[in-house]
Amino acid sequence: MKVWAVANQKGGVGKTTTTTSLAGLLAQRGHSTLVVDLDPHGSLTSYFGFDPETIEPSAYDLFARAAQGSSDTIMLRPTAVKNLSLLPASTALATLDRQLGARSGMGLVVRRALQALSGRFEYALIDCPPMLGVLMVNALAACDRLLVPVQTEYLALKGLERMVHTLEMIQRSRSQPLPYTIVPTLFDRRTRASVESLEELRQRYPAQIWSEAIPVDTQFRDASRQGLPLTVVHPWSRGSQAYRRLLDEVLLPEAPAQAVAHE
Ligand SMILES: Nc1ncnc2c1ncn2[C@@H]1O[C@H](COP(=O)(O)OP(=O)(O)OP(=O)(O)O)[C@@H](O)[C@H]1O
Ligand SMILES: [Mg+2]
Repeated sequence: MKVWAVANQKGGVGKTTTTTSLAGLLAQRGHSTLVVDLDPHGSLTSYFGFDPETIEPSAYDLFARAAQGSSDTIMLRPTAVKNLSLLPASTALATLDRQLGARSGMGLVVRRALQALSGRFEYALIDCPPMLGVLMVNALAACDRLLVPVQTEYLALKGLERMVHTLEMIQRSRSQPLPYTIVPTLFDRRTRASVESLEELRQRYPAQIWSEAIPVDTQFRDASRQGLPLTVVHPWSRGSQAYRRLLDEVLLPEAPAQAVAHE
């Protein structure tokens, strides 16, 4: 099973949208795919029609059970999309850092849970919360590839630098280097902020950045209202086509992702 995490410490940059779009495409192509919601807000969980306030069991139970020394597998939820399952988030995840953060062994809970599921899925995509904590650490330890959506706006670089710094820290505790791809999002070629920030990102991270950008597409709102990936609802919209090209590039063995260690 291939595990991809979608992370950026900045909020509202398109992490959940990137997770649903890429997972939707993989599922549509016939790959059994799991999406894992590690954001206590549960946006991805809500997207697929579940209530993060009440849903049980959830990713929270992975941690609660691990703390008790149990390694039972967690019930997954089917989604309305064929081949696509969800490991939901519940709002209880917000209490984890306080409850378990300092306990040793808690950094590998998601990695172990996914290893136990590796026979069932070809891909697992993890949607991360916009802050550094035990959940993001788990996602970065569990994945073999990282996608970093970055909104094309002024100050985009600042948020990204924090994420790259986190990556460099994580890199030291991993046995394999973690390749990452920067995905420019919410690109509007009519605005100077979008055009200039994209240019700046390309100059600063020439080896890691995807050669294109995900455009602003109002159809994303329509898709989220329907609780389905955009690629399922409007497969030929600009946003869907852009995510399809991103997926094709990420799936290439020679994808333009560089390990942080090589920086
Ligand atoms: N390419 C796009 N075009 C138009 N709207 C978009 C696009 N990408 C994301 N959005 C919208 O922007 C908002 C934020 O996107 P999303 O929830 O994916 O970001 P996020 O990084 O997961 O946010 P958070 O940090 O809060 O979890 C959502 O309303 C989403 O529908
Ligand atoms: Mg999100």
